[in-house]
Amino acid sequence: MICIKGSTIVDGISREPYIGDILIDNKTIVKIGQDIDIDPRDVTLIDGKGLHVFPGLIDMHCHLREPGYEYKEDIESGTKSAAAGGFTGIAPMANTNPPIDNAGMVNFIKKRARESGVVKIFPIATVTKQMKGEEITEIGELSRAGAVALSDDGLPIENAQVMRLALQYSQMFNIRIISHCEDFNLVDEGVMNEGYMSTILGLKGINRAAEELGIARDIIMAKTFNAPIHIAHVSTKDGVEMIRQAKAEGVAVTCETTPHHFSATDKWVSSYDTNTKVNPPLRTSDDVLAIKEGLRDGTIDAIATDHAPHHMDEKNVEYDIAEFGISGFETAFSLGYTNLVKEGVLSLSQLVDKMSTTPAKILNVGGGKLEEGSIADITIADLQARYIVDIDKFYSKGKNNPFHGREVSGKVLYTIVDGNIVYNNGKIIKNRI
Ligand code: DOR
Repeated sequence: MICIKGSTIVDGISREPYIGDILIDNKTIVKIGQDIDIDPRDVTLIDGKGLHVFPGLIDMHCHLREPGYEYKEDIESGTKSAAAGGFTGIAPMANTNPPIDNAGMVNFIKKRARESGVVKIFPIATVTKQMKGEEITEIGELSRAGAVALSDDGLPIENAQVMRLALQYSQMFNIRIISHCEDFNLVDEGVMNEGYMSTILGLKGINRAAEELGIARDIIMAKTFNAPIHIAHVSTKDGVEMIRQAKAEGVAVTCETTPHHFSATDKWVSSYDTNTKVNPPLRTSDDVLAIKEGLRDGTIDAIATDHAPHHMDEKNVEYDIAEFGISGFETAFSLGYTNLVKEGVLSLSQLVDKMSTTPAKILNVGGGKLEEGSIADITIADLQARYIVDIDKFYSKGKNNPFHGREVSGKVLYTIVDGNIVYNNGKIIKNRI
């Protein structure tokens, strides 16, 4: 048994945080209350005074690179990194090699998760076979095997008829399509946001319309075929506005943004630090303001890391040829706390909702709440703590993070998965769940 004593409990947006104790027995939260009576001989005590406890964070969009690119990350290193970031469950994208496009591959991920995972893995499978955008996968089989969503992440589904079929079949199995919105013709080998900064820096820009065309198309698809669709990593002002209007009309569209898209702008590229190279690219300060407003008013439902670890050799090159991506598990919560909660954009409860409760609902995976009887997936943070981001302390193999050296607030201290403490103040203390 574990008892978390005297901490501030953050559970849901409909309730103010309150101080109390949480008693965990086995995998379950058995009691939440004031001054729960315990026998210290039977219980592992966590002194929660001054700390905040919330439902375990759930990342609905990340990359673990196994199978195929284990030199960048694997399920063991990726889930350790996730645990260090306070995530108790993560949904890795299917753009592995081979991709997760059949039930056998979903089973492979589940097996590897059992063997070497530290946190829960909710596999995402592809929308199309081999991610070629031509023929949809066996959605029923994938769903039965345990895929929680479908996405050709990194690749848009360009053929609208293929997307239509995918939307219609996915509805039959109550599984969400996550769409990567990007018009490749318009990207045309761009490497950063197209605008003033790309002109000054002499780098080829990616016009924002590349993302917005995809969002517009997918809103029309969701509306026409009356099927839910989730838009990945929204980064532009007009993208947020289109989604806001679609929601107002009752279109079943949900979306996420990432910590880097509300924490950094294209000005950061002026250092030519390839760790700022990410897709969609870092945008302008106007876009960041719009993203924050979208988070505040509920247009943006979730925050997902898009954790995209790469090897040093793929980043230690000229900006033009570096890989796109940020290794983001271990800075996500602190960036959310520092740049959203401390800035008054979101309350802590709203941040937790966007990093736990809502992703759990969209993926339909359970979790995301702290109630008697619910699974003991729990994150504990010290919000007073300030620290300097240090990539050398990352558990991820990917050290590609542009926030290295910056001070942030709000530190994850404990990650508890199925009632086991898997991360405790810098240390992974249990390797298997
Ligand atoms: O920056 C990115 N990296 N964006 C994506 O959409 C894919 C990801 C990756 O797989 O590296």
